Amino acid sequence: MKILVTGAAGFIGSHLVDALIANHDEVYGVDNLSGGQETYIHKECRFTNLDLRNKDAVATYIQQVKPEILFHLAADATEGRSQFTPLSSSENNYLAYLYTLVPCVKHGIQKVILFSSISVYGAQTPPFSEKMEKRPEDVYGVMKSSMEDVTRILSTVHGFSYVIIRPYNVYGPRQNMSDPYRNVVAIFLNRLSQGKPYYIYGDGAQKRAFTYIYDLIPPVVKAGLSDEYKQEVFNIGSDKPHTLNELSLLILSSWFDGDVPKEFEPVYVPFRPREIVSAYCDITKARMMLGYRPSTSLTDGIRETIAWVKTQGPKLFSYIPLELENDLVPETWKHHLI
Ligand SMILES: NC(=O)c1ccc[n+]([C@@H]2O[C@H](COP(=O)([O-])OP(=O)(O)OC[C@H]3O[C@@H](n4cnc5c(N)ncnc54)[C@H](O)[C@@H]3O)[C@@H](O)[C@H]2O)c1
Repeated sequence: MKILVTGAAGFIGSHLVDALIANHDEVYGVDNLSGGQETYIHKECRFTNLDLRNKDAVATYIQQVKPEILFHLAADATEGRSQFTPLSSSENNYLAYLYTLVPCVKHGIQKVILFSSISVYGAQTPPFSEKMEKRPEDVYGVMKSSMEDVTRILSTVHGFSYVIIRPYNVYGPRQNMSDPYRNVVAIFLNRLSQGKPYYIYGDGAQKRAFTYIYDLIPPVVKAGLSDEYKQEVFNIGSDKPHTLNELSLLILSSWFDGDVPKEFEPVYVPFRPREIVSAYCDITKARMMLGYRPSTSLTDGIRETIAWVKTQGPKLFSYIPLELENDLVPETWKHHLI
């Protein structure tokens, strides 16, 4: 089987490539390295630096490789920023995906595994189940929801299988520490590395279920490679929600080994526009159909992530010009406070 992974240099993509290469020879990877790092790519991965917004280059590449299985992870996954960069969100999520999917279908793709997001559930009451309708509240969620719809429709018409994965709040080694717009765990830890306190949007009571990277990959591989799953949607992630304040306490006590200096108490700032207060999932379907059992406690996962962050040292945060600059832009981004 020829497997293509997009976003292969990214956080989740690079771990997925590692897992796939353990059992398969022909694993191809593409990434434009806007968020990922070349050093994370397994040396046996047949990697090409490719920007999926380049429709013609992507069509030529797919025509040459003719993948049989596509894992699509490439994304501008900055949910909170997408209200201020809707063009980037549309180009790097929706368009980039279609530019990849259409030639894949043309050249006989058998199965597509699309990385979507629980942002498609919007502000409904958690835990979210796959049976709930999609009601995205932000631009990123709208893009992911449309990508899911196009996949389902083209699958029905053109006859390939698909699995849609809706992961959430994944953290662990290789998470991008330089992105000031997303990845709460990595931002908190990078700020501590820099010797500075971090910011919490809102009152910190918002709930998330943080998912350790090594708990995410095995069910994704199973859902993607087994013939059993032909047209499925799975929530995959932890089923133990925590508030951001709980996460913060855990991170601080683990980082400082219990004795947290006063100057590292978090700074509270207003919510970002359209931020969902509580978002976590019911994973009964993944438990029943994939035998999914997330097993890493937040305490253990954070301890292991801290150990990795300490090997990396502090990183500079990297800001981009926003497409919509106005008074609604969070102060932390406008003034590069993070
Ligand atoms: N990390 C999470 O908690 C989480 C949660 C829900 C969904 N997801 C989804 O999982 C996938 C992977 O997320 P991640 O956290 O590993 O993000 P990531 O940013 O680490 O990985 C995305 C990769 O896509 C690449 N990329 C971006 N635009 C590209 C383009 N135009 N052409 C080629 N490559 C491009 C980036 O360089 C990066 O390496 C994404 O689709 C994301 O939406 C992630």
